[in-house]
Amino acid sequence: MKKVITYGSFDLFHEGHYQILKKAKALGDHLTVGVTTEHYDQMRGKLNLVDPIMTRIENVRKTGFADVIIVEDHEGQKIEDIQRYGIDIFTLGSDWAGRFDYLKQYCEVVYLPRTAGISSTELRDKLHNVVRIGIIGTGRIAPRFLKETSYVSGIEVVSAFNPERDSARTFEETYQIQTGSEDFDRFLEGTDAVYVASPNETHSDYVRKALSAGKHVLCEKPMTFTYAEAVELYQLARKQGVTLMEGIRTAYLPGFIHLLSTAKDGTIGEICDVEACFTRIGAPGSREMTDARYSGAFLEYGSYTMLPIIKLLGWDYEDFRLESIYGKDGIDIFTKVQFSYKNRLATAKCGAGVKSEGELVIAGTKGYIIAKSPWWLTREFSVRYEDPGRIERHEFAFSGEDGFRYEIAEFISKINGTGGKDYKLTAEESIAMADVVERFMKKRQEYRKKLG
Ligand code: CTP
Repeated sequence: MKKVITYGSFDLFHEGHYQILKKAKALGDHLTVGVTTEHYDQMRGKLNLVDPIMTRIENVRKTGFADVIIVEDHEGQKIEDIQRYGIDIFTLGSDWAGRFDYLKQYCEVVYLPRTAGISSTELRDKLHNVVRIGIIGTGRIAPRFLKETSYVSGIEVVSAFNPERDSARTFEETYQIQTGSEDFDRFLEGTDAVYVASPNETHSDYVRKALSAGKHVLCEKPMTFTYAEAVELYQLARKQGVTLMEGIRTAYLPGFIHLLSTAKDGTIGEICDVEACFTRIGAPGSREMTDARYSGAFLEYGSYTMLPIIKLLGWDYEDFRLESIYGKDGIDIFTKVQFSYKNRLATAKCGAGVKSEGELVIAGTKGYIIAKSPWWLTREFSVRYEDPGRIERHEFAFSGEDGFRYEIAEFISKINGTGGKDYKLTAEESIAMADVVERFMKKRQEYRKKLG
């Protein structure tokens, strides 16, 4: 009996899928079909599949061509499957020609002609209108965002806005994106959504205006400086029926989500303490080193360090202590926030003019999780126990340099309603962080007043 195997995501099952399965089956007597998990697809950079795995499997099953359906969930699995199931022919569509020649040492490799004119990507694009996004702020972060949008389907950057004409013009010339610097309402008109990447103190006003105009908003952290304003903006988004998302990138990374689940599933016992540290010494003259009103260590990096704490322990802390080391003009070069919960403790530390070990440590009654710098771009973490020889290492493929595309993909799937329930960063969690930001701002203002 000649055994054939093929693989795919089979998202939004289409004629091309049907034909390839038919042809694959005709190559032999028995066909095994591997269907990818969402997790594996995410790892290989396919970020916005629409159909859940059970639907995709069911669609393959309904064709009647598959004798066996298996799930593909990791790199290297094809070699394992071919050996385990005694496969004679491995086949995929011609779009993959050459890519799997390394399997020729295990079985015959056949690339079948692909059906012209159809793909899941095209169908996904058709299913939802492409989201036209405008970038507010053309500073350091805008080009990185722009670059990453090209890896997420369903989004197109159509314009950028910056009231500072020179900056807007330079951005337009460099990136060939139409910019505006005067009429904000006109800029909004041509968009479905905006990404707010302007200076911190301007975030909330832009968010409010964009939401009021019915636009979806992705806003860089910190979105607001006060609890009340965060509540107001999320309420406004709900009222307007649009998506509002705070851009704390770490929250949307598959590795970080896995880290949180591991911390919560009893592996390390009861969580007792969370310590998170992020330091990055800013360039001389940079905002984070000079703007004592709206920048500094905590406003730039505090969201990253609060994130695992709020996600794991919530925000019903009983006591709270916030202290900073201040530099020139009262800018915080280092800030430490200590949270005391009932039987649980947490510390968030961040520095812009102080360097320390950037670590996330989650201590439990049975063991602990440790993620080393840059844990906020979670590529790996370890679980360790009393026995120093027992270490469980978790590693994740991570596409791109800064994790932007995961956040962008989440934003698009929220807009399209394909992202499932909101759990990666909820409005309540974002509001709880705004509360801490407000306390920080008050304390720093008091210090600066004393300075005179
Ligand atoms: N396939 C095909 N003809 C098409 C589309 C896909 O023969 N028009 C084949 C692929 O070559 C592959 C299998 O179907 O062997 C499963 O492909 P999959 O990646 O799930 O489908 P695509 O439509 O290519 O998905 P995407 O657009 O997300 O890459």
